[in-house]
Amino acid sequence: MRIAIRRLVRNLVTMGQKASKSKSNYDYDHFPFFSDTDTIQTVKEAHTFFILRGLPGSGKSTFCTKFLATYPSSIACTVETAPVAERDESDGDWFAKVDEKIQQGLKDVKNIILVDDKHRSAQRLDYLAGLAKDNDYVVAVVTSVTKWEKPADSLERIIPYYFGWFLLRKSAQEMRRNAEDFLNLLTCNEVFSEEFKPNVEWHSEEEFNLQEYFQKKPSTLHCTTKFCNFGEAPGCESYACSEVVEQNYAKAFTLEVTALFVTPRTVGARVVLDKNQKLLWPREEASEGGRDSAEAELPLGSRSHITLACAPGIKAVQTGLDLLDILKLEKEGEKPEHQMEMEKGLLSCYGLGRWIVELTKPVEVKTLFSGFYPRKKLTTDLENN
Ligand code: A2P
Repeated sequence: MRIAIRRLVRNLVTMGQKASKSKSNYDYDHFPFFSDTDTIQTVKEAHTFFILRGLPGSGKSTFCTKFLATYPSSIACTVETAPVAERDESDGDWFAKVDEKIQQGLKDVKNIILVDDKHRSAQRLDYLAGLAKDNDYVVAVVTSVTKWEKPADSLERIIPYYFGWFLLRKSAQEMRRNAEDFLNLLTCNEVFSEEFKPNVEWHSEEEFNLQEYFQKKPSTLHCTTKFCNFGEAPGCESYACSEVVEQNYAKAFTLEVTALFVTPRTVGARVVLDKNQKLLWPREEASEGGRDSAEAELPLGSRSHITLACAPGIKAVQTGLDLLDILKLEKEGEKPEHQMEMEKGLLSCYGLGRWIVELTKPVEVKTLFSGFYPRKKLTTDLENN
């Protein structure tokens, strides 16, 4: 009898050890939003939509508990676990409760929304990312895994349209104000108007106005690191899987804007990266869409910029190319055609409507490093599969 009791006690102890061991099987410290003080503070100030993925048993519930403890003002939108056989992800009802809670979170202007609805389909992710985009939230897709797994082992990796640093709303507003001031000052500058106007087409009866001319303004501001085109751009797979991207995903960064520039096509802000930020800059010399030789001739990360506005018919990708063009002229020692001090700093013109002001006081912008997951392509992928 005593032996039986001892055995029972030993078994209970072993079971207890197993249970507590399995709890520590989830290692969340590699997520910067759990371990990095600056990121925790920044996430509290930002507007972020966390989409949690993971197989059953990967620790999503424990993740949610830890998340709510770190971010008590966030809203967690989760579904009760349902038997696998009953799940039909194309059935909207299954998600109705989660969706209600998300809508509530948006209505209450919660700045952190965590969604764990155990979705697997591209269509569902597509829907969630679309909601986040429409409401100006940064999206972070995070995968919960046990200690011995890598995210790629459990679920298919989702490659975004592009990776980059996404400006917090407050920083974006500040940058927009800076861009507006810059354009207003230039519009009033006679030397600028005389040089710039012959380089653009202006069909309006109204007097030329830069604000009117640069009508296309991005709704969210970001600094692209790697354009992936949903996995179709060369080198994007290895970039997405790289340790540096995995370690820095959803991490806070402060970027330094050192100059503003305008050309007949684009308005942009030049970003100068520090050595840690440069680690996230893709190393390959050529990729889709014009990473041309100009980039290779300049120091790594020279192209880093924030697109602030584009002329009609011009795509945002042009901003980086316009910046490289100006930097190349500077590097070659080209003498500016015009140069003058203005309120913001030294303004130089390199001809053909290319103007840049080096800011006397660089602007620091707060960002989160993440991916952009727009609606269209994910739906298309699903339909094609
Ligand atoms: P950026 O503004 O930093 O130049 P689109 O509006 O054409 O769909 O592109 C979305 C974003 O992706 C753009 O803002 C642009 O970023 C970036 N982008 C688009 N095409 C490329 C490309 N070929 N190479 C690098 N970045 C690109």
